[in-house]
Amino acid sequence: MTGNSNDRRKYGLIGHPLKHSLSPYIHDHIMRKCGIKGSYKLLDIPTDEFDDHVLKVTECLDGYNITIPYKERIIPYLNKLEGHAGKYSTVNTVIEAKGFSSDIEALLQSEIPYKGNNILILGAGGAARAVLAAALISGCRSAGVWSRRTEQSAGLIEEFRRLHPNAIIFQEDTINTDTKSTNLYSCDKAFYDVIVNATPAGMWPECGIPPVSRELILNSVYVYDTIYNPLATRLVLCARSYGIRAESGLDMLVRQAVVSQKIWDPKADLSLFSPLKLQQRVKYMMFNLFPIKIVLTGFMGCGKTVTGKALASVLKIPFTDLDEVIIERTGMTITDFFAENGEETFRDIESENLKEVMRKEGSIVIATGGGTLMRDQNVETVRSNRGFIFFLDAEPEISIKRTENDTLRPLLKNRTSEEIRELYSQRLPAYIRASDHIIDSSGSVTDSVNRIKAALGLSDALHT
Ligand code: S3P
Repeated sequence: MTGNSNDRRKYGLIGHPLKHSLSPYIHDHIMRKCGIKGSYKLLDIPTDEFDDHVLKVTECLDGYNITIPYKERIIPYLNKLEGHAGKYSTVNTVIEAKGFSSDIEALLQSEIPYKGNNILILGAGGAARAVLAAALISGCRSAGVWSRRTEQSAGLIEEFRRLHPNAIIFQEDTINTDTKSTNLYSCDKAFYDVIVNATPAGMWPECGIPPVSRELILNSVYVYDTIYNPLATRLVLCARSYGIRAESGLDMLVRQAVVSQKIWDPKADLSLFSPLKLQQRVKYMMFNLFPIKIVLTGFMGCGKTVTGKALASVLKIPFTDLDEVIIERTGMTITDFFAENGEETFRDIESENLKEVMRKEGSIVIATGGGTLMRDQNVETVRSNRGFIFFLDAEPEISIKRTENDTLRPLLKNRTSEEIRELYSQRLPAYIRASDHIIDSSGSVTDSVNRIKAALGLSDALHT
């Protein structure tokens, strides 16, 4: 590497593919805030061209990051490996032909409670390698590694056992690939304090597949998903729904960027910038970069429409009410439609319109009808179109009070409070089954909006 004669630093990211990378935005932001003059570019090298081009591409840079699939492949081109990079054979930051792992450093700085805990690591690729290293360096009690590619996980375990002869590292084999359920892997036998997802399961655009079953999540105390797009994966939403602390991979992405900047310029004063504020900015940007559908479900009167409108306005994305779409399409009120065509026909129209709304481009908040997600096929429509389901659960008494004197809901007509409560109880299991996250919507609309924002990892105080 030659370096630059002028003051402007030239940095970049080598990898393939790089289309969706957030790194240029993150590094530009850090450099701007900290008064570092420089640029950060994406340098995509196809796998069959790596060996021919890597030296040429990197020679004019002052420093660079390296990502999948090249974190090991870069090593022969370097003169020296520093810190954890050498021991664990993984490099993601380079300066003057010296390789470092800011990934491991970032994972060590994260809030993952490794020490004394049993950690489950899902995956056996580059991310899993860094997580396993951080867990062992920090003194975890044990580390179970699970991967569908059992040979790869066996190899990783063998290598790490040599590096940490006294550590307890094992192949988790009670977890099965469960093709029947919506979870990729399912297990109700294993108990882990900490679960770290280092697989691509749940990554945008295939957000519908969470890596593990609810049972496994419920038995844990901390969940970390190395995926940062979408801003909250189904895994993270599920954990937060049950009060289990969970962090998205954006935490690691920002932390490793800061560590890289420090490696490239040890004198830089990085205290001038707030990683949390940057995370918030990026999370709000995600609605444009990686569009998702926030789908609200729950019993009549739980507040889907009012909460949906308020949430959409806060997130600055559009709002759609499925009932309103149906009213507009059919030219009839829901009550008249029920009276003329019956409930089954309404349900068919509802399913068709849900499909159309879900296929719209861009992020959107959708309030469904209280019965929409009673049909499994509609849940599937949501899942396969980057939809995340929030169940707004209000006490039936509150719903009854809110819908008193209502004439627009045919299912409330001529029903006693007892019967309405009964309908709620019948539907409750289906709402819970379908949901990615449950919030109590018995309070104010602002309360409900704040709970959904918290589940997504968004906080107003930090959004400037
Ligand atoms: C229904 C709920 C209504 C509407 C229709 C049927 C239901 O929507 O779709 O009257 O089956 O629960 P809201 O939940 O918005 O009231």
